[in-house]
Amino acid sequence: MSRKNIVAGNWKMNLNYEEGVSLFSEIVNMVNDEVVGNQEVVVCSPFIHLNSITKLSTGNKVSVGAQNIHQAASGAYTGEISAAQVKSVGATYVILGHSERRAYFGETDELLAQKVDAALEHQLKPIFCIGETKEERESGSFFAVLQAQLEKGLFHLDAAEFAQVVLAYEPVWAIGTGLTASPEQAQEVHAFIRATLAKHYGEDVAESTTILYGGSCNPSNASTLFAQKDIDGGLIGGASLKSRDFVDIVKAFNQA
Ligand code: PGA
Repeated sequence: MSRKNIVAGNWKMNLNYEEGVSLFSEIVNMVNDEVVGNQEVVVCSPFIHLNSITKLSTGNKVSVGAQNIHQAASGAYTGEISAAQVKSVGATYVILGHSERRAYFGETDELLAQKVDAALEHQLKPIFCIGETKEERESGSFFAVLQAQLEKGLFHLDAAEFAQVVLAYEPVWAIGTGLTASPEQAQEVHAFIRATLAKHYGEDVAESTTILYGGSCNPSNASTLFAQKDIDGGLIGGASLKSRDFVDIVKAFNQA
């Protein structure tokens, strides 16, 4: 299969400057020493680390991403950071649509569509997150919720633009809770996402899209999750803050 396997860390609002640089160095060294496959490793850090860790990533197997951008190119938006600014320090990815941004910062599908455009204009690859809440899972409306998030956030893109996007399925009830979706539950949704992509963009695009699972992924459950047919890696929160755990997750492909 031609699609890429990826493990991406999401440090969220953790680690001071020195702690971040030192964790990133540890990850780079461990990945260089231990990882033999061709899976891609990405670390999405707070903005303060980006400039330094992209320099440490040069020539190594670990790429760097941001966790947010503003939708405008530049201007009077005090406290915000643009795609061009993130790109200018050498980062190549940006997480968009994380459920914490949707829930705590009021980011709507419509706003996220604009952020996706801003990212692509500056050659940043979006790691675009979708996911249902506990209530939406229990009421059975989750497929419709996920489909609407895809349609409103991404389906304005043409196929060439969409090819730059990495998707992440992150059930909100599994994030930071220790409650992982079972491999069967996650696979069911990943297959649904791929079928939805196939309807809109065709089989080829659907088959080549990387779809990550996120939500309490750890070294013990990663290999069974990654062994599912439509799961191409993970978006890792808590476990990405420990180099040993994170790199063990990176190594979890083909181990189940
Ligand atoms: P978690 O977070 O691994 O700590 O559950 C995942 C995420 O929010 O991306």
